[in-house]
Amino acid sequence: MTPRAVLVGPPGAGKSTVGKRLATALGVEFFDTDVAIEQDTGRIIADIFAQDGESGFREIEERVVIESLSAQPGVVSLGGGAVLSANTRAALQALPVVYLEISIAEGLRRTGTSTARPLLAGDDPRTKYRQLMNRRRPLYREVAAITVRTDGRSPGKVVRELVEKL
Ligand code: S3P
Repeated sequence: MTPRAVLVGPPGAGKSTVGKRLATALGVEFFDTDVAIEQDTGRIIADIFAQDGESGFREIEERVVIESLSAQPGVVSLGGGAVLSANTRAALQALPVVYLEISIAEGLRRTGTSTARPLLAGDDPRTKYRQLMNRRRPLYREVAAITVRTDGRSPGKVVRELVEKL
């Protein structure tokens, strides 16, 4: 069983909000790989980063994401950095991957100062977010079958567009 849709995009793009509503609209389950990582390890993501570093987190993430892509039939939302893995990008080929695109200003506004995202925590989240986007934008574009802009658009509108396109 492979997913009906896989959502990619940076933190704040709306992957969870849009993903849950899209799953309801399609009558399938919603599956969030960040939640699966926390269940699998028994640790919250901030603790995995603190204890194992980013590279330790990415190893766990790659395994959980690739397993999910071959086992989950619903809408699967990937953590913002999952596309950094070449193995994950290979596993995404030929799947209905949706890139939720967001401007840097709006993405930052939505992520705020949340400490749940260790990569953006600390000083100067604006510079961190910009650097993260410069590195990842080409990767999101590479894996996407469908790209939808989410700035200034309600989740309902984004979901309607996706239901038509998928
Ligand atoms: C990350 C994004 C997070 C989470 C982890 C790393 C990233 O997921 O996987 O904190 O590298 O952008 P969201 O995109 O759901 O916030």
